Amino acid sequence: MKILGIETSCDNIGISIFDSIKNTFVFNKIFNQLIHKKYGGVVPNLASIHHSNNIYEYFKKTIKKYNININNDIDCIACTAGPGLFGSLVIGSCFSKSLSYSIKKPFYEINHLEGHLLSSLIYKKYNINKIFPFISLIISGGNTKLIFSEKIGNYKIIGETLDDSIGEIIDKIAKKLKLNYPGGPEIYKLSKFGTENIYKFPIPIINNNNLNFSFSGLKTYIINIIDKYKKIDNRLKYNISLELQNTLSNILIKKSFNSLKKFNVKTLLISGGVSSNIFIRKKFKTFFKGKNIKIFFPKIRFCTDNGAMIAYACYMNILYNKYYFPNNKLNIFINTKWSIENV
Ligand code: KG4
Repeated sequence: MKILGIETSCDNIGISIFDSIKNTFVFNKIFNQLIHKKYGGVVPNLASIHHSNNIYEYFKKTIKKYNININNDIDCIACTAGPGLFGSLVIGSCFSKSLSYSIKKPFYEINHLEGHLLSSLIYKKYNINKIFPFISLIISGGNTKLIFSEKIGNYKIIGETLDDSIGEIIDKIAKKLKLNYPGGPEIYKLSKFGTENIYKFPIPIINNNNLNFSFSGLKTYIINIIDKYKKIDNRLKYNISLELQNTLSNILIKKSFNSLKKFNVKTLLISGGVSSNIFIRKKFKTFFKGKNIKIFFPKIRFCTDNGAMIAYACYMNILYNKYYFPNNKLNIFINTKWSIENV
């Protein structure tokens, strides 16, 4: 089976085809929008205008490059239907649905967060019957969530941020340090030159028994530190970047560990754009070494928004979720706040 996956929930257009026989992707193309760099964050209106102006050209260019015959080389289409930005979702869904109608192939709606969550299993060796139950930590531009799952298609949110998402605080602090958008990769690069223990940041609600996160106090604290400097020099950038990653890692590890203990679970899946951070990955691996917990991270290319994770989530549901059906009606379903609990 060959599944075309299309992702447009925010500012990326992701197009990919998953070939289930070969267990590989024919291609996984991600088209970024550079326009947002000058605003230091995604401008929703510009994102949807850019999507509508380009999605057809990107698709045409990609299938030509990989020699795809849309009638013979695609068995079904999977498209992100939420959560995400309204305009961005509408354009991806209209495009994908029209395509599925014209080539007469089944159309599946995919929850963006389920795409992230299952991306950590792509190309990994695991026994599907033994992997459950698991806890997932999704850390991205729009989300910071802990999710408990006993089977594909069945998810319970057990913790989430009460204010900013983790990606938001990284991007806001990066902007304050006059770094490029998105801030995550910049912060990681600069942190390598930082000196440890120059700053000590507060860790909000770390000792609470619940599994929620809060990042806004931490953000304000760091912004206040930066404001005290007349000039943002490299030293400041290096040291803030390092301590920010260190503090965020400690928060994520503590809450993940608490959730594994609370639910008596031995498997942790970590995904989303922020999970591409090598510093955070190393801290997790070091902490969990010898604790009999299996950790899955996605390959770096599947961390930020992409079509491969959408195609893969569709495949996993077709295989293992008996309540999963295509929606071939001509109406468009999108939900900007579609909870992963209601997939
Ligand atoms: O998953 P994603 O592409 O979008 C959402 O679904 O929200 O995540 C984007 C976020 C941005 O905040 C970006 O700064 C962050 O992921 N990010 C990183 C890294 N690469 C991207 N954060 C930390 N380290 C990175 N290497």
